[in-house]
Amino acid sequence: MEVAIEGARLHLAVLGEGPPVLLVHGFPFSSAMWEPVGRRLAEGGHKVLIPDLRGFGKSKGAPVSDLGTFVTDLLSLLDVLWVNGALPWVGFSMGGYVAFEAWRRRPDRIESLALVDTRAGADDPAARDGRLATALRVDREGSGVVADAMLPKLFAAATPPSQRQAVHAAMTDAAPAAVAGALRAMAARPDSTPTLHKISVRTLVIVGAEDAITPPRDAEVLVGGIPDARLRVVRDAGHLAPLEQPAAVADALLEFLANPVLRRR
Ligand code: MLT
Repeated sequence: MEVAIEGARLHLAVLGEGPPVLLVHGFPFSSAMWEPVGRRLAEGGHKVLIPDLRGFGKSKGAPVSDLGTFVTDLLSLLDVLWVNGALPWVGFSMGGYVAFEAWRRRPDRIESLALVDTRAGADDPAARDGRLATALRVDREGSGVVADAMLPKLFAAATPPSQRQAVHAAMTDAAPAAVAGALRAMAARPDSTPTLHKISVRTLVIVGAEDAITPPRDAEVLVGGIPDARLRVVRDAGHLAPLEQPAAVADALLEFLANPVLRRR
């Protein structure tokens, strides 16, 4: 479905019926990256809301310069959908950065958190400069610049070439203005590490065992800092665990959504 909010027109996949759960995609992806997991959550009795962030996928809107705009958009979207209270937020990578910002702004709208292949830290100066330089290149040359740079770092060794090619094509198709805007917004994001202890909702941290972008040591920082956090490491998955191992990621989420008490592993 399409939802008009102030300054943007957001595309949203809605799957299943039941208690709602919000899945926020990463960079430079779209709701499509969550669909295999979303279908399983829907089969498990959830109403799964998977928006395209503004400018990505089928959503329209001026590019963001800070991640707070994505948060404002998502809260407006939930209001339009009459999801007025708190619900579980599941954020993948940049979607995790968005979830941290949502927690800072409106913790009352977050019932629980699942942080998937993401990190709390801000960019160091070299990474920030690199992102800003890449944004300039994307402005000039298009999103293929990002697709080519990210592709070698996204997958586990066992992930088949056909899946790698499909992901490369999807990244190349992302709208350059949205990609450049998100790069600048990520470069400007604050360090969430010092405030992890303030996250008072139960949290599941999921990471691909072979994630080279936000590796398991980043996940351990999250679990160490958030008071009620549990870790699930997904085998044969790199950064794109939700696409590489959707059944394992969905099972972990279903168990988490059904049962607040998980074994530490
Ligand atoms: C993502 O998957 O969202 C990105 O890798 C996040 C990042 O570049 O920091």
